[in-house]
Order: sequence, then structure tokens, then C-alpha cells
Amino acid sequence: MTTSPKTAIILGTGLGQLASEITDSYEFNYSDIPNFPVSTVEGHSGKLIFGKLGDKDIVAMQGRFHFYEGYSMKDVTFPVRVMYELGIEMLFVSNASGGMNPKFNIGDIMVITDHINCFPEHPLRGKNFPTGPRFPDMHEPYDAKLIALANEIADSKGIKLQHGAYVGVQGPTFETPAEYRMYRILGGDAVGMSTVPEVIVARHCGIRVFGVSIITDLGGFDVPVEVSHEEVQVAANSAQPKMTEIMREMIRRS
Ligand code: HPA
Repeated sequence: MTTSPKTAIILGTGLGQLASEITDSYEFNYSDIPNFPVSTVEGHSGKLIFGKLGDKDIVAMQGRFHFYEGYSMKDVTFPVRVMYELGIEMLFVSNASGGMNPKFNIGDIMVITDHINCFPEHPLRGKNFPTGPRFPDMHEPYDAKLIALANEIADSKGIKLQHGAYVGVQGPTFETPAEYRMYRILGGDAVGMSTVPEVIVARHCGIRVFGVSIITDLGGFDVPVEVSHEEVQVAANSAQPKMTEIMREMIRRS
């Protein structure tokens, strides 16, 4: 089988189902790929899957690496460097996050229109890779044309989308009530523990990015509510069919 994907997908929380729609697949366990880190977090298995989604060649990362697991930023973003070397031009990412925008509800799908990088280490710290400039532009981290396409698809299917800025934090603690309020004041609509490092490196490689976040819990409102990983998984699974539908159609049309 030959494949030359231009599209990559990071199957974060809420997109696992998309993996089962990949046909003509050829899978590599991360543990068999030189220099690839191995995922440890519950609910994330580790495989790089080549195949087709509809008639598009794609490569999908099943399982991603989080800074809180103890990986360096170089490890967290290594797969994106590999994608660049494979010739990827477009990256689709998903994640779960805590909603801070009072208009959001649990189970909402938020198109990520911007982000705030609150990780304690920058993924581009160190010697500059020749894929991009030392001081990369970030005026459009999430591709406006892909966002417009998502809006059009969601409209035509009667799926409601939220839009907002995603605050990337290291975790692994969920936020305290004061922290949720702080991230809201900073300009965030949702907060989560992934995505931002991968997106920064993708942009540094000139890869166009589309990201969605499932709002799995809410924070920063009047009454503090307990959050658990299990609850996050349950909310993400319930939004999964809509999320999968949008992503499938976007990949077909982009
Ligand atoms: N905070 C950080 N990360 C998360 C959250 C949250 O509330 N929900 C899901 N991932």
C-alpha cells in the first residue's frame, strides 16, 4: 500500500470513534517508532495509524503526550515534527476542557479560535528548527478558512457549535475556583491540558490547524463543582457522535 497523507489528526478525547472509520489502515505502535514517547494516561492508547478517511489519505495519532506525564516539550511535540517530515499540511486536533464562558454547557463542542499558552515551558525554546523563523507569527494560530468550513458544516447538519479561546495549562490538577476565574479574566473560554504545544509546533512548521474542544465540565461560576477524569470521559463520549460527524465531513471537504 502506498499513502501520501497531507492531513493528520490527533485523536484526543472525543474523537476516538473516528479511528474506527479509517480504512485500508496500517498501524505502528508508538513503542516501535524510534524516539516516539509512549502514552501512559488512562483512555489514551498509542498508535500511529495510516489509512483512508473517505477517499482522503490521512495519518492519525491515537493517543497523545501530555506535559503532566513528565515528558519534555520536545517529546510532547515530537509527533508533529514527524508529521511535518511526512508532508502533512493540515492538522486536526481535539481535546476535552473545562468551560469558563457562562454561555457554555457540558457536552458543548467549542471550535478553538485562539489560545493562551500558560505552559511553564515553551515548545520552541532552544535551538530554532529550520521549519520556521526564530520568532514565529501567531496572528492566526487556528485557520480561519477551516473554522468557516466547520461553521458551514455544523449549520447544514443542525449542530450547535461554540467558539472560543482555549487556555493551555500543565495540569494535572484541575483548576481551583480562583484559577478558573483567573483564566476567564485572562480571556479564556475553556481550559485544558494539551493541544497548545502541538499547535505552536505545527504553526512553526507551516501546518494549517483546526481544533475542537469538548466542554466536559464547568468552572469559575458561583458554586464550585467537583471534577473527575471519569466525568470528563463520560461528557466527552456523549459529544463524540457530533464531533466525529463534523470532523469526518471537514476532512472530506478540505
Ligand atoms: N481543566 C483542565 N483540563 C481539563 C478540564 C478542566 O476543567 N476538563 C477537561 N480537561
